[in-house]
Amino acid sequence: MNPINHVAIIMDGNGRWGLKKKKSRNFGHEKGLLTVEKIIKESLKNKIKYLTLFAFSTENWKRPKYEISFLFSLLEKFLKEKINDLNKNNIKLKIIGKRNFSKRLNKILYISEKKTIENKKLQINLALNYGSKSELVYAFKGLKKKKQRINETNIKKNLETSNIPDPDLLIRTGNTNRLSNFLLWQLAYSEIFFEKKLWPDFNEKDYNKVLKKFKKTKRNFGNI
Ligand code: IPE
Ligand code: IPE
Ligand code: MG
Repeated sequence: MNPINHVAIIMDGNGRWGLKKKKSRNFGHEKGLLTVEKIIKESLKNKIKYLTLFAFSTENWKRPKYEISFLFSLLEKFLKEKINDLNKNNIKLKIIGKRNFSKRLNKILYISEKKTIENKKLQINLALNYGSKSELVYAFKGLKKKKQRINETNIKKNLETSNIPDPDLLIRTGNTNRLSNFLLWQLAYSEIFFEKKLWPDFNEKDYNKVLKKFKKTKRNFGNI
């Protein structure tokens, strides 16, 4: 049985879910947040050490302004309401992605990370304004600046995920089979599960089903 240390998730399908319910895309985002809470709880139960959630990509700025503002207001509300709970549950929050948000949001992110920095049970990596290509470019610039040799160890050291082991598995909900610029380096050997369900419909049972399937997968890493 494979141990599960790190799960990465592309939480996709909120917008379509909202429209399917004859409501707005933003309604779907709001519901999607409930799934986030469920999956965090279930990750704790499964003793998973790292959970990386793709919340906003560098490409998502192309969306209408009102949707973007809504997403960030949801995030702000979530952190304000839940950071103490996360802290009590011994969860550490880490943001990955470029932080060029409003001063207010940057501060909330900073405070949330600082508050939970010593926590040990589960680390949640929240990918915000994250894009793998830009992360890699930045990493290579770092190598050049520090005059470090180009090798796998040094590239890893310069990524935003430098201290985080690579994901064992990636789950993408929303019936879409692509990576959308997420963790291209880190997912090199992850098991990938594409789920048909839209993110707000994804639940603990679905999650456990994937974890169970993962545990039984034969991982070769090039070997036989
Ligand atoms: C959520 O799903 C992902 C975010 C960018 C927050 P989407 O908003 O992409 O939903 P669909 O794929 O359009 O249904
Ligand atoms: C990926 O979903 C980004 C997040 C889940 C945050 P998208 O819905 O933005 O991906 P594409 O544009 O369909 O590839
Ligand atoms: Mg989508």
